[in-house]
Amino acid sequence: LTAPAGSALLGILAVTGQDSAAAAVLAQQLGLPLLPSALDLEHCDQYDAVLLVCGSTLSLQQTGRAPGPVRVDFGSAVMRHRRRSGHNELLGRAVGIGKKPGLRVLDATAGLGRDSFVLADLGCQVLLCERQQVVAAMLRWGIDAAAGTDDPWLAEVMARMTLHEGDARELATGSISPVDVIYLDPMFPQRQKSAAVKKEMALFQRLLDAGDGPDDADSLLLWALQQDVARVVVKRPPRAPCLAARQPSHSLGGKAVRYDVYVRRGLASTSN
Ligand SMILES: C[S@@+](CC[C@H](N)C(=O)[O-])C[C@H]1O[C@@H](n2cnc3c(N)ncnc32)[C@H](O)[C@@H]1O
Repeated sequence: LTAPAGSALLGILAVTGQDSAAAAVLAQQLGLPLLPSALDLEHCDQYDAVLLVCGSTLSLQQTGRAPGPVRVDFGSAVMRHRRRSGHNELLGRAVGIGKKPGLRVLDATAGLGRDSFVLADLGCQVLLCERQQVVAAMLRWGIDAAAGTDDPWLAEVMARMTLHEGDARELATGSISPVDVIYLDPMFPQRQKSAAVKKEMALFQRLLDAGDGPDDADSLLLWALQQDVARVVVKRPPRAPCLAARQPSHSLGGKAVRYDVYVRRGLASTSN
């Protein structure tokens, strides 16, 4: 896994006394300092953000006058809304939903897992790869919390998601061979322009400073195209150039996003 926090300064804080043990374990796992729980986050200028441990939730709170914390919550109203809002249709078409039941997708850039969740909700079996340690920890906590749900819909979706904490390019061949589609979303796009969202994006960009530049995204596509899969799908900003100057077989464009689809063979003909 890559450096815990890129160039951002992070610490870990237990929200209640009962969270101290879990916070200490996480601090050790991530190599981050365990901060005193009385710390005043609004006036703390030694750290850019703090990971808050509270029961089964892990959230990332920026310090200073900042918007509320970010966490992975697959049962949230926002995630539930996403599935009905038509957001998913384009992504579903790009990966080839309907062409093969139980499509297997490797989400090689899982991030906070939103696209993976959409794909799993559409019926795909999703292997999520996240190489940045802090992001991977947030994802793991989000998956563990949702897996314990008593909501049958959520439990069913979570059962189709498997997390691999590490670089997708280091996956064993055996993990990639059943995969039909590799999905790549290499950059946090600056889609919404509010100051709060910009600040959140800036923090994640700094967290990810450990090498997620444009060249890195190009080499990820070149790696994906070398794998024995039926298609590779790349999420891009609408007018951005194709990764690695490779022309896709076709693109599906929406208002805020474009999916470049590299078809290697028919999905129906894969025998996995
Ligand atoms: C823009 S985010 C993805 C957002 C995600 N699609 C979502 O819906 O939340 C890109 C993520 O990919 C991760 N990443 C980039 N290259 C990777 C690689 N080679 N293997 C695993 N993770 C990678 C980065 O650490 C970052 O968290």
